[in-house]
Amino acid sequence: MILLALLLAAAPHVFYVKAGRLFDGLSESYRQNVTLKIENDRIAAVGGSIPPGAQVIDLSQATVLPGLIDCHVHLESRADHFEDIWTFKTSPLAPAMTAVVHARRTLEAGFTTVRDVGSEPFLAADLRDLIDEGYFPGPRVVASGPCISITGGHCDLNRYPPNVRVDFYPLERNFTVADGADQLRHLIRSHVQHGVDLIKVAASGGVFSRGDVPGAPQFTYEELRVAAEEAHRLGRRIAAHAHGTQSIKDATRAGFDSIEHGTLIDDEGIRLMKERGTFLVGDIYNDDYILAHADDLHIPREYVDKERAIGQTQRDNWAKAVKAGVRVAFGTDAGIYPHGDNARQFSWMVRLGLPPARAILAATAWAAELLDRQKDVGTVQAGRYADLIAVPGDPLRDVRVLERVPFVMKGGAVIKDELTSAAAAPGSSSSK
Ligand code: ARG
Repeated sequence: MILLALLLAAAPHVFYVKAGRLFDGLSESYRQNVTLKIENDRIAAVGGSIPPGAQVIDLSQATVLPGLIDCHVHLESRADHFEDIWTFKTSPLAPAMTAVVHARRTLEAGFTTVRDVGSEPFLAADLRDLIDEGYFPGPRVVASGPCISITGGHCDLNRYPPNVRVDFYPLERNFTVADGADQLRHLIRSHVQHGVDLIKVAASGGVFSRGDVPGAPQFTYEELRVAAEEAHRLGRRIAAHAHGTQSIKDATRAGFDSIEHGTLIDDEGIRLMKERGTFLVGDIYNDDYILAHADDLHIPREYVDKERAIGQTQRDNWAKAVKAGVRVAFGTDAGIYPHGDNARQFSWMVRLGLPPARAILAATAWAAELLDRQKDVGTVQAGRYADLIAVPGDPLRDVRVLERVPFVMKGGAVIKDELTSAAAAPGSSSSK
């Protein structure tokens, strides 16, 4: 009896997925009628036949792709509720609650992995661990700590009256502001101490920050070099928020793994990024939402003015960089716009010259490379997590079909199924 129970417990859960069309993330085209064998949470084999009596998920009428990856999100941030965060009307715990809801929406939209590049200390690492534990649903999270900023920079709290004391949470312990090499080293080490997967640094000014200029450098080249060296020594990747021309080049030369936004990149920056294989993570959908909702969300005039000044330029420059062969990864800055709408960026990428297959690679195989998680996610291959999505149409023809993903599997568990006949069967629930 006990032996039998042990044997049963040890027996892997094996099932099969029939894919009508498979985009596996290894080429730019489909494979037709492919069977996947899944063992527990991983893909055991691609191709082969289905033994009689096996459990099968029939996606033979659909296109199956790797679970999508967004390399630039802020899971805690609400896009519908701008003011409270900056006017301190909510407790520091509210972001943790909103993040739980956003994690689920993101996963149900087909994004099975995200890189969170800035949140309360150390919310993203906790989210990652609780989701991994299965405590609540969400994508796999690659977590940074709070974005590291110079005093008065993009990720600091600026322009409050000098007689008013404002602090980040937790009070009295600074995880955000660093000036000079020593302070940067200290902050990066303390982020690693608290379990982050990567470091995020605001190299230049930003749009959604008071009193600074997106194009203006904040950290010096020397500081960025120390930051990259420290992160890499501790086995962490490092991402630079950089809109500014000089900061993009400084961070690239300093050895950063990715340039976020990349708005004002020039020819020299393009050449450097290409030479070094630095990833460009351009949030080129963002501008639509910000400008459409400037009034009803009461986005401060200063931010809207900055957005108007750079939105189109960012898109033009992204197109130029892509054409020149700079490596790109999909990243949206979701949190500025609603979580779950991440896939709306695909059509912008295509409009700006990236063929649909490559836009999808940017959100699968290439994104996994930036995250250094190629062995786990980003492609449909034996050994990878069984993170899959399926759509009824042809995303290589119309990438917008990815905006409504009816079937999501993460780690071999069906998260959402509004697609198969099992979903339509009476008594079955379409999502869980
Ligand atoms: N987090 C970015 C910043 O505040 C958002 C920029 C959004 N605008 C854009 N065109 N990408 O700087």
